[in-house]
Order: sequence, then C-alpha cells, then structure tokens
Amino acid sequence: MLHDKMAKALNDQMNWELYSSYIYLAMASHFEQINLKGCAHWMRVQTMEEVTHFKRFYDFVTARGARVVLSEIKAPPSEWKSPLDAFEDALKHEQEVTRRIHRMADLSLELKDHATSSLLKWFIDEQVEEEASADEVIQNLKLNQDAPSGIYLIDKELGARAFTVPPDVTV
Ligand code: FEO
Repeated sequence: MLHDKMAKALNDQMNWELYSSYIYLAMASHFEQINLKGCAHWMRVQTMEEVTHFKRFYDFVTARGARVVLSEIKAPPSEWKSPLDAFEDALKHEQEVTRRIHRMADLSLELKDHATSSLLKWFIDEQVEEEASADEVIQNLKLNQDAPSGIYLIDKELGARAFTVPPDVTV
C-alpha cells in the first residue's frame, strides 16, 4: 500500500504532467500561428511524451492499490515573444519538473518506499534528457538569432522529431 503522503505527491505530479502536456500544446499552437511548423511539431511530440509520463504515474499508483485523483489543470500562457522565449520557458518548466521529482524522491526515501524510489529513478534520468533537449534548441536558436535562414533550418530539423509510445507504457 502507498503511504497517503506518497499517494498525494504522486497524484499532484500527475496533474503537473498533464499541465506540462497542456503548456506544450499551447506552444505548438503558438508556433502553428507564426508558421514555424517544425517547432510546432516538436511541441506536439513533447505533448505526447508528457501524456506518457502521466500514464507511468497512473499505472504505478493503480498497481499499488491507490486511487488516481484527477484535479483541475491550470491554463497555460498562449503567447511568446519569440521562438527563443518559448524554448526558454520550456526549459524553466522542465527545471521545475525536476525539482518536483527530486522532492518526491526525497519523500520516498524518508518513507522507505523502495518501489516508488525505483519508479522515480526513471524520472530522475528522464529529466536530465528533458532539460538537455530544450537547452540544445535554445543554444541553436541563440546562435542563429539574427539569421532567418538559420531559424528556417532549425525549424526543419525540429520537424523531424519522432515519437513512439514506449513499450512499457500502456495506452
Ligand atoms: Fe514530464 Fe517534461 O517532464
């Protein structure tokens, strides 16, 4: 059985993962409006990734015999000043996700909940990748800030991002 405190933290994180998905969907729509289809595609893929993160928590909480309690998802922003501004926001958001995951990992250790610690280990590693991939786009955008042809190429590259549902996540 999950400790009540752990179940509450995992449920809060599920809300946060869906909020993440919501933010990236808002960014995708923003990019579609300004005709950066590759950036929009990258964000749509990110939206799907966040849903799979949500599902990992959902399946885990269910397997541990606790109830998934869904709560209201706050509205994300809808506009950004530039592609760089949006990706910088994405990175800030991921850094906040990392802080939350680490706080949960601390709680799982405090409660000697080794099963939750093991789940969170996956997320700790994932967050390194999540922050790195947003930062990589930021660095490329900074290098090409005054070069429209560079932005065009970055957009093309981001449009090639692939997504497949991980085999260990149920749909
Ligand atoms: Fe689910 Fe991008 O962290």
